[in-house]
Amino acid sequence: MRVPRIAIITHERDLHAFAVQHRLRERFGVGAHIVETDHFYRSPGLSWTPEGVGVLPGRDGEAVEMAEMDLIWFRRVGNGRTTALPEVTDPDYRDVIFSDSATAAIGMVMAGYRGNVVDHPQAVHLAQSKVLQLRIAHDVGWRLPQTLISQSPERIRAFCEAMGGAAIVKVVGGSSARTAATTVVSKELLADEASLSLAPAIYQELIPGSRHLRVQVFGDRVHAALFEVDELDWRFDLNFPAREYPLPDEVAKNLHEVLRRLDLKMGIFDLKLTDAGEYVWLEINPQGQWLFVEGMTGMPLLESFSTFLYGEATARW
Ligand SMILES: Nc1ncnc2c1ncn2[C@@H]1O[C@H](COP(=O)(O)OP(=O)(O)OP(=O)(O)O)[C@@H](O)[C@H]1O
Ligand SMILES: [Mg+2]
Repeated sequence: MRVPRIAIITHERDLHAFAVQHRLRERFGVGAHIVETDHFYRSPGLSWTPEGVGVLPGRDGEAVEMAEMDLIWFRRVGNGRTTALPEVTDPDYRDVIFSDSATAAIGMVMAGYRGNVVDHPQAVHLAQSKVLQLRIAHDVGWRLPQTLISQSPERIRAFCEAMGGAAIVKVVGGSSARTAATTVVSKELLADEASLSLAPAIYQELIPGSRHLRVQVFGDRVHAALFEVDELDWRFDLNFPAREYPLPDEVAKNLHEVLRRLDLKMGIFDLKLTDAGEYVWLEINPQGQWLFVEGMTGMPLLESFSTFLYGEATARW
């Protein structure tokens, strides 16, 4: 029986990549290659020609011939915090090295790679836009928090007033160097003309309640987890009860419809469940983190994801 060939394009120290590589080997006998885009200076380096050569450097020093891969898991590129090349200290040089590595790898996946991809870099790039996500979720019929993206102090104040003072602010894109917390819009912030106008931000109706849903969708597989926590933003202290949650089919269907419109096969969704039982859209992370959810709930996400990936690698046979 032929064993599918899989490459995982990511950056250094990606726990998800290591865990999935290990599970694919144990479960399916597949030896997946890990390609770290911030370590391309390692031999044999990256090479490509328009005639069809495409070689990426594997983490273990192997040459990964793209044409031989049945599947590329395009997990992540770019890593502002990489430990690669400590001897290169000039931030401008570092920027060129790492962004050219990532840009070349993305181009190679887009330029005629014939295997399957989870998920396509263009689709991931588009889906990372919170603006586009909100628009698509709206069109699909999701209940969204009332939203304004703005840096106009006047409009922001009017919006927050209309929310009765219960509004939050969060970043439009953020920076990979630091996770910016979602916070309640304070009177001080509203009075601070300079801060408000510095950059556009997302202002939203505050959705009250302590039921947060993190939903992993891997193809047809849907795994929802419920986090019960009073914090507005649960991401900074994971010390709260978490368990598997039976998501109604109708809700799962609406998540799949967002994925379909974004041309994605997988996504990690953040939703909020109100006390009245309403499911409110917050966002999709096209390649979000999910292993911690297995750690907190015991849900078999690694098994599910590896099976999904194996299925995608053999889908075209
Ligand atoms: N409108 C809202 N009302 C109440 N809580 C919210 C609202 N929007 C976001 N949150 C909370 O803030 C946290 C982060 O939300 P979200 O994932 O939307 O933010 P983000 O900064 O875009 O995240 P990411 O870094 O994952 O892209 C979550 O705990 C979420 O429940
Ligand atoms: Mg989020």
